[in-house]
Amino acid sequence: MERKRILSGMRSTGKLHLGNLHGALKNWIELQESGKYDCFYFVADWHAITSEYSSTEGLKDNIINMVIDWLSVGLDPNKSTLFVQSAVKEHAELFLLLSMITPLAWLERNPTYKEMKTELANKDFSTFGFLGYPVLQAADIIMYKAYGVPVGVDQLPHVELTREIARRFNFLYKEIFPVPEPLLTSVPKLLGVDGRKMSKSYDNSIYISDRGKTLQHKVNSMFTDPQRIRKSDPGNPEICNVFTFHGLYSPREKVKEIDVECRKAGIGCTDCKRMLAKRIAEELSPVHERIDYYTSHPDEINAIIEEGNNKASKIARQTMDEVRAAMKI
Ligand code: TRP
Ligand code: SF4
Repeated sequence: MERKRILSGMRSTGKLHLGNLHGALKNWIELQESGKYDCFYFVADWHAITSEYSSTEGLKDNIINMVIDWLSVGLDPNKSTLFVQSAVKEHAELFLLLSMITPLAWLERNPTYKEMKTELANKDFSTFGFLGYPVLQAADIIMYKAYGVPVGVDQLPHVELTREIARRFNFLYKEIFPVPEPLLTSVPKLLGVDGRKMSKSYDNSIYISDRGKTLQHKVNSMFTDPQRIRKSDPGNPEICNVFTFHGLYSPREKVKEIDVECRKAGIGCTDCKRMLAKRIAEELSPVHERIDYYTSHPDEINAIIEEGNNKASKIARQTMDEVRAAMKI
């Protein structure tokens, strides 16, 4: 039986952090390991330019480093197709054609667009490319006739728009695109060290590649229960980001113990964080070994990317033949 195809992408804006790892990558790996799906995962480097257009010098390194992080946490090129968006030029052609049939109003009411524009008011997002971001994303997805798109809730509006664009194409020309389903995953809410959403732009992230003193220092600086000022104050783990991390990195009994001890001030935050830093370091140690390995073997990375690009290109060429025929161009 043919396995259903799923596809997801990630903007290559820099090193991956633990939010990316637990929010998306773990899920990608799980889908890969389930054996149920034909997985396509790609580096959305053109999408990265929508916000980074004024400083593009890091683009190439970011692609390589992102793939290194992917492989190091467990994405496997023998099981999943890993490729780079800009290497498959068909994405640009499909983006252009879809832009012809996408009503402007669909893009202008996109919540992500409105949010980004207001939130990052210091950056100029009044570009055509930024408004068209979801059209490019739609092209990425339907190019491979993906059945499902594993994403976090923040991406739901984009998948919804993709569905509308696919339906519109099918209606106007020919039924060639399946309407893709979002594959939502519930993810633990990991915050950055300052208690805000973990994000590269907030400079509050713990990166997958962080180790040693850097890692320790970041964990030490994490916000905890704000009501707990002295060690003798009982704490509330439910509202503590350190505790959320323990839930992911420490054995169940340890988590229970911290839960009990924190509430009766039996354990201090400094010790609690020290334990956490140690656990994260242990957990990431094999990942760091692989990062070191791949970093010193760039040829292997390039070969993996090239193989994925070729596989993706083959499908993209077929799809574009169908698209041109359907549109009579
Ligand atoms: N917009 C997505 C993000 O910021 C990245 C992305 C681009 C994507 N194209 C995609 C995700 C296609 C899923 C499918 O995370
Ligand atoms: Fe958070 Fe641990 Fe401090 Fe409790 S003891 S508030 S769980 S850091």
